[in-house]
Amino acid sequence: MISSLQRILEITAYVLGGLIVWLILIRIVRKLFHFPAPAFIGIFLDSDLRRGMQPAEDFIRAAGIQPGMRILEIGCGSGAYTTFTARAVGPKGKVEALDIQPAMLAQLEKKLAHPAYLDIQNITLHQASADELPFGDGELDLVYLITVLPEIPDQARVLAEIHRALKPGGILAVAELIIDPDYPPKATTTRRCQKAGYLLEDISGNFWSYTARFRKPD
Ligand SMILES: C[S@@+](CC[C@H](N)C(=O)[O-])C[C@H]1O[C@@H](n2cnc3c(N)ncnc32)[C@H](O)[C@@H]1O
Repeated sequence: MISSLQRILEITAYVLGGLIVWLILIRIVRKLFHFPAPAFIGIFLDSDLRRGMQPAEDFIRAAGIQPGMRILEIGCGSGAYTTFTARAVGPKGKVEALDIQPAMLAQLEKKLAHPAYLDIQNITLHQASADELPFGDGELDLVYLITVLPEIPDQARVLAEIHRALKPGGILAVAELIIDPDYPPKATTTRRCQKAGYLLEDISGNFWSYTARFRKPD
């Protein structure tokens, strides 16, 4: 009995230790080499397991998403949050879902073709890079990035592009989750966005999952 308990504790220690080493190694690799999150993780990103850690309803509330808004989601990936946003803005609102990787957008396109999402008609997909947004000046009510900003090599340039495309008084929401190898603490995100000219309005969540909401000055 005692030896099987010892065995279970040993295995748990190995698994946890292995996980910590893996997370440290992957963070080092991500610091040395910049590349977008591979498309095969789209299945995990758009899973209930992941949304259990970063619930869509919490994000929508924290970001200040309201019916009728025109919203840009940068780095939408496989669309884990896109359909929730599309329903939250309603038929008078619009979601521009943008990603640099066609393979991610293909997963979102497939998701939207599923009968469960056929009611959603207010999403437009864009294959583009965040540092050259295909939108005019002051067009958008709200721009958000979920586990995307720290993955972008020139964040200052992207934050300036978002600033250009947002309306005066528009919202920038940035959400992060600790299991992302690029995860930055709240202070880093706040500093980066304030440096780019945004005003911090609110940060909700906790140490491992948070949403920071900023405003472009009027
Ligand atoms: C970790 S995934 C997160 C996907 C989604 N936001 C989510 O939370 O499920 C990061 C996404 O950002 C996209 N991405 C990375 N760099 C980008 C860039 N410069 N412009 C647009 N999208 C980018 C990647 O292709 C990937 O789909």
